[in-house]
Amino acid sequence: MAKEPVRVLVTGAAGQIGYALVPMIARGVMLGTDQPVILHMLDIPPAAEALNGVKMELVDAAFPLIKGVVATTDAVEACTGVNIAVMVGGFPRKEGMERKDVMSKNVSIYKAQASALEQHAAPNCKVLVVANPANTNALILKEFAPSIPAKNITCLTRLDHNRALGQISEKLNVQVSDVKNVIIWGNHSSSQYPDVNHATVNTAAGEKPVRELVKDDAWLNGEFITTVQQRGAAIIKARKLSSALSAASSACDHIRDWVLGTPEGTWVSMGVYSDGSYNVPAGLIYSFPVTCRNGEWTIVQGLSIDEFSRKKLDLTAEELSEEKALAYSCLS
Ligand code: NAD
Ligand code: LMR
Repeated sequence: MAKEPVRVLVTGAAGQIGYALVPMIARGVMLGTDQPVILHMLDIPPAAEALNGVKMELVDAAFPLIKGVVATTDAVEACTGVNIAVMVGGFPRKEGMERKDVMSKNVSIYKAQASALEQHAAPNCKVLVVANPANTNALILKEFAPSIPAKNITCLTRLDHNRALGQISEKLNVQVSDVKNVIIWGNHSSSQYPDVNHATVNTAAGEKPVRELVKDDAWLNGEFITTVQQRGAAIIKARKLSSALSAASSACDHIRDWVLGTPEGTWVSMGVYSDGSYNVPAGLIYSFPVTCRNGEWTIVQGLSIDEFSRKKLDLTAEELSEEKALAYSCLS
C-alpha cells in the first residue's frame, strides 16, 4: 500500500540551497524513494516571484513522489501541518565575514518562526536549522518554541562531517564510503573540532584506525583540522557564493539518518541540545556523535577524549556560550 505523504517545509526555498534541496527531496534522497512528499516552501515577499518560478519547475519536472506544493510568503501557511522543517531561510555570510556576523539578522528570523512552528506544525515535527549561525539559530528557535521537545530541534553539522570524510578519503586515496566515524564537535564555525581519533577505514584487511593509516599526526592535528574548519570560507572564496549543493545533500543525509536510522556500527554528527555529555555545558546546541533509531538520536557515550581534544571541545563550547549571549543581546 502506498505510504501517506510527509509534509516537508523548506524555508528560504527561493535561495541557492533551496534550489538544490527541493529536487533532492522530490527525488526521495531525503526520505526514501517510496515516500511521497508534500513540499511546503517559504520565502519573503521580495523573493515571491522567484519562489513561484521554483514551484513552476517542480511542476515541470513531474516528480512522481510530489503530491502537492505549497509556495508562500506566509509563515503560518508554510508551517501548517509540517512533519519535517528544514530551516534554510536567512542571510548567508560574504567573503571575509565569520558566520556569527550574520547573527542579528538571522536570530530575529528564528525567534519569529519559532512560534509559527510551535503553533502550526504537526506534533513531533523534526526541525533542522541550516541557516547561520546554525547552532545559535537552533537554540533561539528552541527557546522561543518551548512546547516543541528539545530533542526535535537540531542543526546541520553533517556538512562538516562529510567534509572531514572527504579530506581523509583524498589523503588516503580510498573511497569516501569506506571512511566512517569521524566526529564534528561543537559549533558549525571555525572553532569546530573535527576529530578522527575514533575514525576507521574499511580495508581489504578489515577496519583500520585512520591514525594508523595516515601515519601523519602533524597533518591530522593541524592542516586537516583547519581545512575542515575553513572549508566554508574556501568555498565562498572560490564561488563568491556559499556552499549550496553540498549543504543541500548533507541536509538530506541528516534528515534521512534521523528518520530512517544510522547504519549499524556507524555514527554521524548532529548539532543537538546538550545534556552535559562529555562535560559540554547543558543548554547549548552542540555537535556530538550520534546514532539514530526509530526516529530518535542518541549521543554516543564513552568515547575517550585526550587532552588535545578536551581543549578543543571546551574552546568551541565557549564560543557557543558567547554566541548565545550575543544572540540574546541582538534580540533585546
Ligand atoms: P540565499 O541568500 O541564496 O538564500 C536564502 C533565502 O532565504 C533567500 O531566498 C531569502 O529571501 C530567504 N529568506 C530571508 N529571510 C527569510 C525569512 N525570514 N523567511 C524565509 N526565507 C527567508 O542563501 P543560501 O546560500 O541558500 O544560504 C542560506 C543559509 O544557509 C545561510 O545562512 C548560509 O550561511 C547557511 N548555510 C549553512 C550551512 C551549514 O552547513 N549549516 C551550509 C551552507 C549555508
Ligand atoms: C558552510 O559551511 O559552507 C556554510 O556555513 C556557509 C559559510 O558561511 O561558511
